Amino acid sequence: GLDAPFRNDELIDFTIPGNRHAFPEAIATVRAAKGKTYPLCIGGKDVETEKFIQSSNPADPDEVLGRICQAGQGEIDQAIAAAESALPAWRDTEPRERAEVILRAAAIMRRRQFELSAWQVLEVGKQWDQAFHDVGEAIDFMEYYARDMVRLGKPRRMGRAPGEHNQLFYQAKGIAAVISPWNFPLAISTGMVSANIVVGNPVIYKPSNLAPIIGYGLVEIFREAGLPDGVFNYCPGSSRDMGDYLVEHPKVAVISFTGSEAVGLRIQEKAAKVQPGQTHCKRVVAEMGGKNAIIVDDDADLDLAVLHILYSAFGFQGQKCSACSRVIVVEDIYDRFIERLTKAAECIKIGPSEDPANYMGPVVDASAQQKILEYIDLAAKEGTILVKRSVPEKGCYVPLTIVTDIEPQHRIAQEEIFGPVLAVMRAKDFDQAIDWANATRFALTGGVFSRSPKHLDQARREFRVGNLYLNRNNTGALVERQPFGGFKMSGVGSKTGGPDYLIQLMDPRCVTENT
Ligand code: SER
Repeated sequence: GLDAPFRNDELIDFTIPGNRHAFPEAIATVRAAKGKTYPLCIGGKDVETEKFIQSSNPADPDEVLGRICQAGQGEIDQAIAAAESALPAWRDTEPRERAEVILRAAAIMRRRQFELSAWQVLEVGKQWDQAFHDVGEAIDFMEYYARDMVRLGKPRRMGRAPGEHNQLFYQAKGIAAVISPWNFPLAISTGMVSANIVVGNPVIYKPSNLAPIIGYGLVEIFREAGLPDGVFNYCPGSSRDMGDYLVEHPKVAVISFTGSEAVGLRIQEKAAKVQPGQTHCKRVVAEMGGKNAIIVDDDADLDLAVLHILYSAFGFQGQKCSACSRVIVVEDIYDRFIERLTKAAECIKIGPSEDPANYMGPVVDASAQQKILEYIDLAAKEGTILVKRSVPEKGCYVPLTIVTDIEPQHRIAQEEIFGPVLAVMRAKDFDQAIDWANATRFALTGGVFSRSPKHLDQARREFRVGNLYLNRNNTGALVERQPFGGFKMSGVGSKTGGPDYLIQLMDPRCVTENT
């Protein structure tokens, strides 16, 4: 229950036969359920629309997983009205009671962990272990925010002046639009949604149209958890038809977004403009891109560095805002490192994520594939291709690519590619490596492999990113242990899975009584 301390969901152990067997079984179960039509959920009711999109398997785009109803502006109006009528009661529900609903949802998710993971294998091409951990992270967000709301829900007495009693407390901001990405399809959605719900903000949830079936899981889970109608509204739709409309809606008070820099900046601009009838300033929490670097110092443990860099760069095909896309190698170790990195990268198995032997799978869809292939062409122009692996013909695969001779001014060193493309840069010393690491407009994650306490200490101070990792991979931040998020063009808003997150979604009030 809420009084037990927070603990992270356990990592899956595939040496346990039950875990190994559960995956193919769950994938078969999910496959047997494919082909359904998914309605919207507005005010607790199923709402069907005339417009659909199809969700398909990126490893085999002919495999259609389901049809998803698409919200237009009319449905957004209905969802806003449902959220508006749910707001007063939900906002004034005791924080502990709200937290308990979220904990029930976490328990339901844990019970369905294999099935929810299997959907990710099929819908976005996520590897077994990473899919399982995505669901684990979703559970963690709920377990963590529920407890943190209990902490923040207690009014705080301020000051010690005699004859005066001051209380500081927080209230829900209002209706939240949650716009979520496909790459951590359950974790990031659940994090943003549950944070808003637990503070008392009713949610209009727009899942990514590349992971809408996974997003639909939240409808079932919150229904079963007993969340009041109208507090969670599931509204997938095309950004063009309803994205701006939702963001610009005068009744929306909070926009929680995770996705690309371009969309994040657009949302901030739209949200800043006050619409007729609007009575508040909107709060935008936007987690955006990265161009994350790992530095390899001249005394680095290469056994460790190579494995962790490969995972950081090519885990889930590099489709993580946290992924390593630049490795900055200090000159003295350059040749040795490159040889090791090349050999290891040549060994990576590539193919459908359904087969756990494959380390790398397809990227999310044909348009991502196209965009990444263009970057690979650019990489060949700006640098020297060191590794370019061949990939299956069918499905949305792109070659695992490593390009050397990249310099800070190159586009390959500056733009987020969101795919399995790693740029190698050769720095003359550790100082230059740090300078280059900082020389992008992003500040999300970073890493350093070094045995020098002096250099590690220098990195702590001077490698300016939201999440810095010393002598380990730079993806897979865990709730509570590594509050996640960056600054500069990587985003506005504080640190998911940490103590500064929930207060952004609330308004603080202070009541003073003369006693
Ligand atoms: N939280 C994820 C990670 O750390 C990225 O969204 O990899």
